[in-house]
Amino acid sequence: MKLIDFGVRHDEKKYIQEWSKDNNIEVKIVSELLTPETVQLAKGYDGIVAYQQLPYEEKIFDTMNEFGINVLSLRNVGVDNVPIEALKKNNIRLTNVPSYSPEAIAEYSVTGLMALLRNMKHMIRKVDAHNFQWAPDIGRELNELTVGVAGTGRIGRAAIKIYQGFGAKVIAYDKFHNPKLEKAGLYVDDLDTLLKESDVVTLHIPSLGKGHTLINRKSISEMKDNAIVVNTARGDLINTSDLYDAVASGKLYGAVMDVYENEVGIFNSDLSDQEFTDKLLEKVIKSPRFILTPHIAFYTTKAVKNMATVSLNSMVSELQTGTSENEIKFDK
Ligand code: COI
Repeated sequence: MKLIDFGVRHDEKKYIQEWSKDNNIEVKIVSELLTPETVQLAKGYDGIVAYQQLPYEEKIFDTMNEFGINVLSLRNVGVDNVPIEALKKNNIRLTNVPSYSPEAIAEYSVTGLMALLRNMKHMIRKVDAHNFQWAPDIGRELNELTVGVAGTGRIGRAAIKIYQGFGAKVIAYDKFHNPKLEKAGLYVDDLDTLLKESDVVTLHIPSLGKGHTLINRKSISEMKDNAIVVNTARGDLINTSDLYDAVASGKLYGAVMDVYENEVGIFNSDLSDQEFTDKLLEKVIKSPRFILTPHIAFYTTKAVKNMATVSLNSMVSELQTGTSENEIKFDK
């Protein structure tokens, strides 16, 4: 068996090399992303592993089919950049890593929220400029707030545990109810109720698809005054311009954004020596009421190792048995 792993960052390399040695399976490591051009490198390999934020183009899957490669294993969880119809057409199976570390994302959401509640960004900026005054950065306490968790999958549930540990009141919304949370009476009936009753709304759901936002002018108008939005999920869940306006006007207190609707090509790139052209993002960066980070909630040693190794294990299982526990089942 010979595998090829695309879009490998420096920090992932050692885990893939270790796995390759331990399992005695050849893995070619490629730093380039998977594109209609680079997929040519996969000729002669049995399976492709990849991670990227860039959309996977349909042509890739025609070429995979031509090469007789019928499994793509992703090193991440989100599949919103995969053209599912093109996979189906070419009979290509897809796996992801649904649980590399829900705690990594959950802990980061809370970290971002705490930083915002204690006005950390503004305070650090002031101290950097030798201004050691307290005011106006008086904080708010999490134990006094109601946190509304949208999405109670693995990450949402990990977040709930932490918020409860801090003494916050937690309410939740999901189409699918987790029996334990149901029993604990955490669910509200609909999203509107969650928005209306929460001081903090934290998002732990996948993308709703192009043009479908959860946080926008209309939903913001339902929210409590002074509320906070936390997003470590997908940038396109939020209309950033509406969110910015709501914070700038004082309707909302602020937001934690580890993801951004136009992040591809910006996040995880060093643009420090270039003219920055995204005016909206620039306003967000400047505002002390936005904690903005470049999609790093997942970025821990535990998560990165799991992403590298679980994706390879899934590939082996797919090639040896025709399926794996992480295979994504498509609707017919
Ligand atoms: C995912 O796993 O889909 C993420 O959003 C994290 C990614 C940046 C590796």
